[in-house]
Amino acid sequence: MAKEIKTIGVLTSGGDAPGMNAAIRAVVRTALARGLKVKGIKKGYQGLLNEEIVDMEARSVSEIIQRGGTILGTARCLEFKTPEGQKKGADICRKHEIDGIVVIGGDGSYRGAQALSRNGINTIGLPGTIDLDIACTDYTIGFDTAVNTAMNAIDKVKDTSSSHERCSIIEVMGRHAGYIALWCGIANGAEDILLPEKYDFNEQMIINNIIANRKKGKTHHIIINAEGIGHSTSMARRIEAATGIETRATILGYMQRGGSPTAKDRYYASIMGAYAVDIMLKGKTNRVVGYQHGEFVDFDIEAALNMEKSIDEYQFEVAQLL
Ligand code: ADP
Ligand code: F6P
Repeated sequence: MAKEIKTIGVLTSGGDAPGMNAAIRAVVRTALARGLKVKGIKKGYQGLLNEEIVDMEARSVSEIIQRGGTILGTARCLEFKTPEGQKKGADICRKHEIDGIVVIGGDGSYRGAQALSRNGINTIGLPGTIDLDIACTDYTIGFDTAVNTAMNAIDKVKDTSSSHERCSIIEVMGRHAGYIALWCGIANGAEDILLPEKYDFNEQMIINNIIANRKKGKTHHIIINAEGIGHSTSMARRIEAATGIETRATILGYMQRGGSPTAKDRYYASIMGAYAVDIMLKGKTNRVVGYQHGEFVDFDIEAALNMEKSIDEYQFEVAQLL
C-alpha cells in the first residue's frame, strides 16, 4: 500500500532556470490546497544535509511568479553523490517528517531524487534547465525565457554588425546541448550555427561561406556558437585573418539564465508543479514529469535517464537552409 503523504518538501538543484519560482509556488499552493504541510529546502541537496529547512505557507510564495532565479537557492553537493550522504539526507527528511520531495532540476538532480526514493522518501522530479536537454520531455522550465533573452540580445548585436559590415560570432549557453543555438539560429536568421552535437570543426567551410555571402552583398554574417564548442574569441581572430573582414565575438553568458520568466515558462512550470504534487498523492514515487505531444506525463526516473535526445535532423537542415 502507498504510504500516506502528510508533509512534502520542495527543493531546486543544479543550474537555476527562470520559471523555477513559478514551479515552487505551484507545489506549495497545490499541496496546501490538498491539506498537506510544505517545507522549503534551501540550496538543493546541500541545504538538505545542512538542515536548511523552512515551513512554507501560501504567503511564502507571494510575488515570486514573475521573478527569475529560485527563492530557495540552489547548489551543487558532492556529498550527496555518496551512499552515506544520501542516507543522511533521507534520515533528515524523516526527522523533519517529510514524506516526499519535489526536486526541480536536471539529470544530475534526478539521480539524487532516485537515491532518496531508494532510501524510503517519495520523490518526483521536475525538468528545470535552460538547456532543453532532458530526453523525456519536449519542454524544460526556463528554456523559453533563455532563448528569448538570447534572441533579443542577438538582434541587438546584429544591428551594429550590419552597420559596420562586420562578421559576428555570438556564443550562447549550452555546454553539452545545442538547443539554444539551434532556436536562435532560426529565430535570428543566423548565417551559421555551431552545435556541440553537429560541429565537425571545419572552420574553412565557415570562412568560405562568409566570403561567398559578402560577394552576394550581405552586410553582416552572424555565427551562433554554442558554449560547448566555445573558443569564440580565438575563432573570431582566425576568421578575420582569413577573410579580411572585421570579426567580433560576443559571449552572452549568464544573462541567459536570469530574468523574468515568459508566460510559457510561468504557465508550464505552474502546471508541472501542481501535477507533481497530485501524482505523489496518488502514491507515485521515483518519477519525473515531462511534456510530450501536448500532454503532461510522467516516467520512472531510471527509464527517463536512459532515454536519448538528439537534434532533429530536419530542423537542423531548415536552420542551415534559411
Ligand atoms: P543538474 O541537475 O542541472 O543536471 P548537476 O548535474 O550539477 O545539475 O546535479 C545537481 C546535484 O544533484 C549535484 O550537485 C548532486 O548534489 C546531485 N547529484 C548529481 N548526480 C548525482 C548522483 N549520481 N547521485 C546522487 N546525487 C547526484
Ligand atoms: O543551466 C545550464 C547551463 O547554463 C549550461 O549550459 C552550462 O553548461 C552550465 O549551466 C553552466 O553552469 P555553471 O557555470 O553554473 O556550472
